[in-house]
Amino acid sequence: MRLAPQPSAQPLRLLVPLLLATGVIASPVISAGCPDRCVCDDQLVVQCAGQHLSAFPADLPLATRQLILSNNLIAELPPLGLNYLSDLVYLDCSNNSLTEISESTFGNLRKLAYLDLSFNTLARIEGRTFGPLASLVMLRMTDNPGLSEIHPDAFAENEALQVLDVSRNNLTVLNVTSLIALPALRSVGLSGNPWLCECENEDLCLWVHLEGFKFQDEGQTVCGSPLDMQGRRLGEMGVQLRTLCHQTLGSWDYLFFVAIGFVIFAAGTVSAWLMGVVMVLYERYIKKKDEQLDVEDEEDGNEPGPQARADRSLKGTITV
Ligand SMILES: *[C@@H]1O[C@H](CO)[C@@H](O)[C@H](O)[C@H]1NC(C)=O
Ligand SMILES: *[C@@H]1O[C@H](CO)[C@@H](O)[C@H](O)[C@H]1NC(C)=O
Ligand SMILES: *[C@@H]1O[C@H](CO)[C@@H](O)[C@H](O)[C@H]1NC(C)=O
Repeated sequence: MRLAPQPSAQPLRLLVPLLLATGVIASPVISAGCPDRCVCDDQLVVQCAGQHLSAFPADLPLATRQLILSNNLIAELPPLGLNYLSDLVYLDCSNNSLTEISESTFGNLRKLAYLDLSFNTLARIEGRTFGPLASLVMLRMTDNPGLSEIHPDAFAENEALQVLDVSRNNLTVLNVTSLIALPALRSVGLSGNPWLCECENEDLCLWVHLEGFKFQDEGQTVCGSPLDMQGRRLGEMGVQLRTLCHQTLGSWDYLFFVAIGFVIFAAGTVSAWLMGVVMVLYERYIKKKDEQLDVEDEEDGNEPGPQARADRSLKGTITV
């Protein structure tokens, strides 16, 4: 279905200058028609905002430079329909129902400078998704409440990128290695995400710490976990994480020391106890030996032992 306009495209392109020359039509935009419920003007702007569209519009003018699809219910950007628009500079898909952007979605949009994917239901961004967008200057991808994963290389090839906004998503980690290397990047929005303030995010926190001026709403760019870090600013965490994550002694070393300490403590306690037991037993043994000697003495010399003497005196008091 979407392929349908393709065969007619080439003849149309050849036909348009001819028709223009003969004065039959005024503009190629009008000649290519305008989608249902959209408004097309002679500045090559196609405006389809808030039209309850549930699918990407068909029959878009081939020369479209600005396409505004915001506030609709579009669930999918079809690669074939979109990549036909090779002159597209501005694409606003905000506030739709997009759940997925595939790696082929933007395959041919080499002039695209502005892309807005905010207020959708995206969940993850793959590595090559934005790769072909060599002219992309501004990417807005905010308010996707389930967006929790962005591939480390997602923006690696967007050398022209100046503004990136991924605020108010569900991001916990972001590998910023390729972002830091982008030469033109001057504004980044990260606020409103539940950032994880642990060693795996050390680079991100350090970046915010060192280049805080680049970050919009830096004060609201805070940790979501772990619990004891909640609400702390990422920029503030940068230095702390650097010292925490690069100690010469790792956590295993500490665990080892604690274990050794415990073993020494336990060994001391056990040996002290054993020694006590041995002492008590020895004392009892000595006492018994003494008593046995006493009894033997008594039997030998009819000399009453201390116990016998006590018994006798007790009997005496009772009879008195
Ligand atoms: C999204 O679009 C709907 C209409 O489709 C509108 O009622 C709503 O206010 C829009 N939301 C935002 C955040 O623009
Ligand atoms: C955000 O991510 C967490 C896991 O990191 C998940 O439990 C939660 O359901 C996500 N929120 C939304 C709105 O998808
Ligand atoms: C970030 O991604 C790069 C590849 O782009 C990888 O080499 C690096 O190890 C990653 N860093 C972290 C902290 O995962």
